[in-house]
Amino acid sequence: MSRYLYGIDFGTTNSAISIYDSEQDAIVQTISVPSILYFPSKQEAGKPLISFVGHEAIEQYLADGMSGRFMKSIKRVLPISSFTHTHVLNKKMTAPDLVALILIHLKAKADAFIGQECTKAIIGRPVFFDENNPERDQLAQKRLAQAAELAGITEYKFQYEPIAAAFTYERDILHNERVLVADLGGGTTDFTLMNLSPKAKGILNREQDILKTSGIYIGGDAFDSSFMWERGTPHFGRGLLYQSMPGKHLEVPLPLFHNITTWEKMNFFNSNRIRNEIEGFYFFSNKHPKLKNLLTLIENNLGYQVFRQIEQTKIALSIADEATFQFNRLGIEIDEPSTLPDYETIIARDLKKIADCLDGFVAESGEHLNSLDTIFLTGGTSMVRPVKALFEHKFPSVKLQSGDNFISVAKGLAYSGYLFHG
Ligand SMILES: Nc1ncnc2c1ncn2[C@@H]1O[C@H](COP(=O)(O)OP(=O)(O)OP(=O)(O)O)[C@@H](O)[C@H]1O
Ligand SMILES: [Mg+2]
Repeated sequence: MSRYLYGIDFGTTNSAISIYDSEQDAIVQTISVPSILYFPSKQEAGKPLISFVGHEAIEQYLADGMSGRFMKSIKRVLPISSFTHTHVLNKKMTAPDLVALILIHLKAKADAFIGQECTKAIIGRPVFFDENNPERDQLAQKRLAQAAELAGITEYKFQYEPIAAAFTYERDILHNERVLVADLGGGTTDFTLMNLSPKAKGILNREQDILKTSGIYIGGDAFDSSFMWERGTPHFGRGLLYQSMPGKHLEVPLPLFHNITTWEKMNFFNSNRIRNEIEGFYFFSNKHPKLKNLLTLIENNLGYQVFRQIEQTKIALSIADEATFQFNRLGIEIDEPSTLPDYETIIARDLKKIADCLDGFVAESGEHLNSLDTIFLTGGTSMVRPVKALFEHKFPSVKLQSGDNFISVAKGLAYSGYLFHG
């Protein structure tokens, strides 16, 4: 029996693998990569597809002048039953095929680190892949299991991501604590209420310590979409009029702009039909420069770079009170200063969804929350200040802890080996 166990956190934005060594009872390494795939367009016929993962995918995509297929947020397609496959350069790729490429990459790095192959893993999943539809939720987990098998993981169990984060936090505590863990990621927000103990690490069954879990399918990527809608789309023609017939002016249809509020949608938006449609609006708006921007954006695949700037603005606002969304390329010139209160207004609807989920969680937890000691915030989106403020306002007298934002889940998964003994 191998002394190692992997914890695998396949995230919407970032994925990580943690290596647990049972002989040392410790995590010996955690490796993380952005959950990004890139397939160059120049590939030899009949040969296996060449793909790049993570930072290498970003670098190669930019070096190739943003041609080829670039994919982000693949976790989002897991619960979508209508997504059966996509063609990548004539090769049919299912959701498990795509996810497997990221898992293969992580596993190869971890195997290289320990100098042997390890085929046993605890795999993370959000509390809900889809909070309204159990079938879609099951489909997502099934696809993730298929991906793990394709990646050569033969023995695996699933664990909720926020429970895993709680186990990581548990390793640092000195006294028994009742903890609310909030894992705020790119695509999902998850809550868990747990009793933690510094003495609990050897205990095989933790079921009675997990008091409540809940989650919602929204995260920091939604903030970026809202920002794109409010501060980005006006630069690409939202709100403009075009002449639909002599003397009659109509607004350029809004669905056009909904399609550029997520990077992924924009990636699938570059068809001849769409380009012709936009060219029509451009022509009948007297060649308005903002619609020219939209054509430039679509034709040159600039979506990823625009969203990167939007994310940078969000990250800057996590520490500064003001930041500017800037994008200057191929004639598109955006310079949008934004303050923290502005940002809070832009993401208000998304924040409310998170706040409502937290309220529901609090109501359902009832008395269990009376003796809450700590709130442990983790995940990249926990660094967004209005998000942190939600917890401060709701629990003014409870201690807030944070840390290990991008690896706490993977580490806690690797600490979840007890699941194999249950
Ligand atoms: N400094 C920061 N301030 C604010 N947001 C940040 C910061 N750094 C990263 N983010 C955001 O955090 C999110 C990614 O967080 P994380 O890596 O925890 O998610 P994930 O695990 O990939 O997603 P999920 O758990 O939802 O599947 C992204 O939306 C990213 O823009
Ligand atoms: Mg996560």
